[in-house]
Amino acid sequence: MSRKLRSQHWFGGLDKDAFIHRSWMKNNGLPDDVFDGRPVIGICNTFSELTPCNAHFRGLVEHIKAGVLEAGGLPLEFPVFSCGESNLRPTAMLFRNLASMDVEEAIRGNPIDGVVLMAGCDKTTPSLVMGAASCDLPSIVISGGPMLNGRFKGRTIGSGTDVWKFSEDVRAGVMSQQDFMAAESAMSRSPGHCMTMGTASTMASMVEALGLALPGNAACPAVDAGRARLARLTGRRIVEMVAEDLRLSKILTRDAFANAIRVNGAIGGSTNAVVHLLAIAGRIGTKLSLDDWDRLGRDIPTILNLMPSGRYLMEDFHYAGGLPAVMNEIAALLELSALTVTGQSVGANIESVENYNDDVILPLDRALTSSGGIAVLRGNLAPDGAIIKPSAATPALMQHRGRAVVFETIDHYKARIDDPDLNIDETSIMVLKNCGPKGYPGMAEVGNMALPQKLLKKGVRDMVRISDARMSGTAFGTVVLHTAPEAAVGGPLALVRDGDWIELDVAGRRLHLDVSDEELARRKTAWTAPPPEMVGGYQGLYVERVMQADTGADLDFLVGSRGHAVARESH
Ligand code: FES
Repeated sequence: MSRKLRSQHWFGGLDKDAFIHRSWMKNNGLPDDVFDGRPVIGICNTFSELTPCNAHFRGLVEHIKAGVLEAGGLPLEFPVFSCGESNLRPTAMLFRNLASMDVEEAIRGNPIDGVVLMAGCDKTTPSLVMGAASCDLPSIVISGGPMLNGRFKGRTIGSGTDVWKFSEDVRAGVMSQQDFMAAESAMSRSPGHCMTMGTASTMASMVEALGLALPGNAACPAVDAGRARLARLTGRRIVEMVAEDLRLSKILTRDAFANAIRVNGAIGGSTNAVVHLLAIAGRIGTKLSLDDWDRLGRDIPTILNLMPSGRYLMEDFHYAGGLPAVMNEIAALLELSALTVTGQSVGANIESVENYNDDVILPLDRALTSSGGIAVLRGNLAPDGAIIKPSAATPALMQHRGRAVVFETIDHYKARIDDPDLNIDETSIMVLKNCGPKGYPGMAEVGNMALPQKLLKKGVRDMVRISDARMSGTAFGTVVLHTAPEAAVGGPLALVRDGDWIELDVAGRRLHLDVSDEELARRKTAWTAPPPEMVGGYQGLYVERVMQADTGADLDFLVGSRGHAVARESH
């Protein structure tokens, strides 16, 4: 029994509708024979000059198209909302779910049999995978690739990570404004996304670990000819995947997510992967919880020596063998039978790879930290959980008791942080409220709030910080994030006051506010919800329907697979 391709419901037949579908496509120069039942491959392109990390996609897409044509498919490129991290305000995360809706409906509504997802900058990866997961067609990801290493005054500098350092050095008076400006040009030397293990590199690694991209996708630089070859092979492979009916739901199994969580630990990946993978799992209908992040990733050693946890950058990672080499090092910890877009298992994909630089990809007995991954904290301050990335934290602060210095909002923080009279020292715990999914809105990357200038000048470079916000994957520090429920919905974080004692115990997975239940109940009675930041429009809808961080911060009505709604018939 041969399967009738979905696109043939548009392009097959002799009736008026088929006439219309074909005729208008012919105005692009398409001849009769391309409607003969060959697979139609949608190429979902997040190119935008406002998303500089994806601005080279106009060239990259041509290689994908060539691959599709070589394999006998018909490539049709379409644009979707491009979530660029560096420009979008108030935060690109506010638009991840919107972009995913764009992707979903563009795929669902069009004559597409399989999809290539062109991702790069942070949120473009989860938004594309979430939208595609809601449709469950054969889909494959190609990332745009990282920028080349930054170079400044003879040393290597990394996107984001060195911005935070330089900015603190300027505030501490140990770097000149002139050098700060010069570093700006030295940091971004080529097309591509951030070349630290920030969220973009993490998510490029996550899609490879999930089995959604060809091996080698994560690390190959944007300007390396290898990236163009990978795009071409991706184009060829999606045509085969349509023939095999290799849909996302066959790949995005629980084993695939377990592999991704473990790989995230091994690479010292971004905390943002937590909300993105939870959201993707929610779309495809695979059971995954916040506690799975702790349980599955708890004893995974961080073996990738990349900023912000280590010292190298993505270009070095590529030369060392890329993600397949990392996966090979931790093969004993992976679900090797998990199926991938190659049509082969993870085990088959990585069995013959080599590690070419064991200072970049460290052997297990020289790991950066024996317990990488994401620690999930609970306690009366975070009943639904909060997270911390131990590999980016200061070991001495991972067990700490300190007095809270509270910032009610990000504006309150900005107004107060450099006040010389602020009652704060290095043992204090900085608490930032109202920066969660509803509070900011969009859950901005402000959790790694900069330290007070007066402490920076004393040489202090890390303090415990707690918030309901996220932080950039390029950032570091003893930073507790994603506290749920968030302050804006009346979570316990909303009730913290200056001077309260807080206990952080990462080993014990505990986050405790040392205030009696009775006093907290009194404070809760007196608490009033802040007025919504946004009313009306998409942003109003977002605030109304966004879920909390512990379940992926998706919009509640988008959760659950709707793949069955995509027309697919056999005859
Ligand atoms: Fe685009 Fe960092 S700003 S990946």
